[in-house]
Amino acid sequence: MDVTTVKKSQAIEEVLQKFPGATRSQLIPILQEVQQREGFLSRDGMIQIGEHLDLPVSKIYGVATFYNQFKFKAPGRNHIMLCRGTACHVKGSQTVLEMVEETLGIKAGDTTDDGLFSLEVVACIGACGLAPVISVNGEFYANVDSKSVKQIIKDYQKKEMMA
Ligand code: FES
Repeated sequence: MDVTTVKKSQAIEEVLQKFPGATRSQLIPILQEVQQREGFLSRDGMIQIGEHLDLPVSKIYGVATFYNQFKFKAPGRNHIMLCRGTACHVKGSQTVLEMVEETLGIKAGDTTDDGLFSLEVVACIGACGLAPVISVNGEFYANVDSKSVKQIIKDYQKKEMMA
């Protein structure tokens, strides 16, 4: 990998400075904090972390992919969070998930190629009385089913076309 093309991030540098003389045992907390600030782990970001920890990027990527909390693509302009907690599961969130994936053509954890939508599956988002529930850009939609969720996505797609 050509490290000369790496674009260093000031935000990541600030995180790394909190871990002076860090060893690989601090890799996970560093990755967590970088993701919290950047929203995802970019290739350049992982190279930058690797330089700090003296680890090859392949190693960092290997560790990060082991944990499903890490994302490797920037979130979409519209971020969908779909609850797969127990209450939502019992009320059919699996079918809702399948419809969202089919409508957007992506899997959970991914971002559409045009960067407009991303989908994240989460455990309980604290609105069990509204199950099954999704949120789009922080706005909650209650008692969704495969038909209504398709319409919700279509509405956001329409908004994007008019933007
Ligand atoms: S289980 Fe979905 S909001 Fe609690």
